Amino acid sequence: MRVAIIGQGYVGLTIAVGAAGAGHSVVGFDVNDGLIAELNAGRSHIEGISDSDLAGFIATGAYKASADSSVLDGCDVIVIAVPTPLDTDRNPDLSYVHAASDLIAKHVKSPALIINESTSYPGTLRKEIAGRITGVKHLYASSPERVDPGNNQWGTKNTPRLIGGLTPAAVARAVHFYGGFCDNIIEVSSPEVAEAAKIFENTFRQVNIALVNEFVQIADALGISGREVLDAAATKPYGFMPFNPGPGVGGHCIPVDPSYLAHVANEVGVPATFIKRANEVNLAMPAYVVKRVVAGSGGSVKGKKVVVVGVSYKSNVADTRETPAAAVIDLLREQGAIVNWHDDLVGAWRGESSSLVAGAEIAVVVTKHEGVDLAAVKACGYVFDCTGSIDDVDGI
Ligand SMILES: NC(=O)c1ccc[n+]([C@@H]2O[C@H](COP(=O)([O-])OP(=O)(O)OC[C@H]3O[C@@H](n4cnc5c(N)ncnc54)[C@H](O)[C@@H]3O)[C@@H](O)[C@H]2O)c1
Repeated sequence: MRVAIIGQGYVGLTIAVGAAGAGHSVVGFDVNDGLIAELNAGRSHIEGISDSDLAGFIATGAYKASADSSVLDGCDVIVIAVPTPLDTDRNPDLSYVHAASDLIAKHVKSPALIINESTSYPGTLRKEIAGRITGVKHLYASSPERVDPGNNQWGTKNTPRLIGGLTPAAVARAVHFYGGFCDNIIEVSSPEVAEAAKIFENTFRQVNIALVNEFVQIADALGISGREVLDAAATKPYGFMPFNPGPGVGGHCIPVDPSYLAHVANEVGVPATFIKRANEVNLAMPAYVVKRVVAGSGGSVKGKKVVVVGVSYKSNVADTRETPAAAVIDLLREQGAIVNWHDDLVGAWRGESSSLVAGAEIAVVVTKHEGVDLAAVKACGYVFDCTGSIDDVDGI
């Protein structure tokens, strides 16, 4: 089949490579010209796709990237994988989804299967995508992406995939398409169920992370190790699921998706109280970290050299979206600390570059990538570890 993927970010490029591997002829469409040039040169910008895999598919003609929207017409399948962020009031920003839908409405004149993989609230496929595309009789399905960048155990192939469609024909076509590169497909009765399942999954994580984040603060005040308690609780073989505390939540999903659910909950008059409270707890974690760092550094960090180690939102990925490291750094600077950061994976961020760990008096480990020089970290006078993975240092 001829397949177009709108958006060549984490999700879109992953699906593009999956579909190319299944024997389809894939064009990855994106509005970012620089990214298109890089992709066509065989350079991948995401961790899960190697340059050699990408170059291989380009060489056989199975994949090409393009910024020319005319490539969309004549495709059998068009997958939408564009950002769904929050606006400045923390409400859903569907402008990218609308722009992608409008491109389809303008350029695609032959009927296609249109699939949305972007995360959004229930009703998005029906109202915000299909509702904007008039004239041509397309088929519409929702298959929210569950990719976890950097996760070597669960990828596109073996993560079960939900599919809901506006019609049985749309579901059947989507099942056939994903069946080429996904092992386990689960049909649900409507796109709204698939959309809601995705945001509920991430809300479940957001709320449980907030719960352990609040719990470790209680445990610390009680003079016991929160992490030891969580490890002890996790020995129960049923009825308990471990979550890790940390400096807050980052990335495109956990800090964002629950607010999509809260938005529709509000519209139907049911308050999403857990989501609101979990956001408050998670967003307050950088301030808690800085409070602990100040306390552990003799009551003040003023004029002290601090290095924040690992600024991406999770280990072994370079993604800094919504990373709590930003607030940790800003709050330390507000306290008068001289703050640099070290993250070789990220390299450059917020107009600053990764610096050395050596020479700092205080190290605050927000994210620990493989290969980070722990000896250099431990050589700092005081170490505060937010990851719970460095022995014999202070932390959460
Ligand atoms: N990153 C993840 O781990 C993850 C996991 C599951 C679901 N999701 C969801 O998938 C969606 C995409 O996320 P992502 O992480 O791939 O985003 P991303 O920012 O990595 O990539 C999005 C791409 O879309 C492009 N784009 C924006 N508007 C466009 C348009 N009108 N036409 C063509 N391209 C356009 C951007 O240039 C960018 O390259 C979001 O809804 C996100 O919530 C992400």
